Amino acid sequence: MFASKRFLLSPWNRTVPITICRSLSTAPKELSQQDSQVLDRVIRVDQAGELGANQIYKGQHFVLQFTDPKVAPTIQHMWDQEKYHLKTFDNYILENRVRPTLLRPFWDVAGFALGAGTALLGTKAAMACTEAVETAIGGHYNDQLRDTVHLNDAAPELEKLRDDLAEFRDDELEHLNTAVDDWSAKEAPAHNLLNNAIQAGCQTAIWLCKRF
Ligand SMILES: [Fe+2]
Ligand SMILES: [Fe+2]
Repeated sequence: MFASKRFLLSPWNRTVPITICRSLSTAPKELSQQDSQVLDRVIRVDQAGELGANQIYKGQHFVLQFTDPKVAPTIQHMWDQEKYHLKTFDNYILENRVRPTLLRPFWDVAGFALGAGTALLGTKAAMACTEAVETAIGGHYNDQLRDTVHLNDAAPELEKLRDDLAEFRDDELEHLNTAVDDWSAKEAPAHNLLNNAIQAGCQTAIWLCKRF
């Protein structure tokens, strides 16, 4: 049982004690300043990424429910999973007092525009967008799992975070497979151009959100 609320990460990137008391056998430990910064960045960039993903699926659904209604339930299903991912990282932000990205208004607009814009090019183009985004985000989650593997035994809360990273990585790769295998993403017009441009955009977004 939790005996008290704790803050695992410092909003000021200082070393902070983990004061949770999940069980008497769990001794309080400290995160190094470097590890605290890593976890701050993980939570900030993932909340921003999930916000962007929500907006992309929102934009796709907004268009495709009219232009190709048979794909709308698939988009809705993936969107619902992104809503859960975002809610989870919203909670991590609040519980750990991590500063959210300053670029949220931009991702709101850019995500919706990307989703709606590719959907206007057709279902296969929308799925090519999903393929590119989920390839980038799946790889990004794998990077984070590698970057935090040494924290595995630091505290039960970190195990929960890493479990969420792995679960969401699997969801993103499921979205990727849906786009490619079920909805022929690779047959989209100018597929390579779309794929390269969107993946480059995702990498830029990740870079920016780690810093701002
Ligand atoms: Fe997601
Ligand atoms: Fe996804």
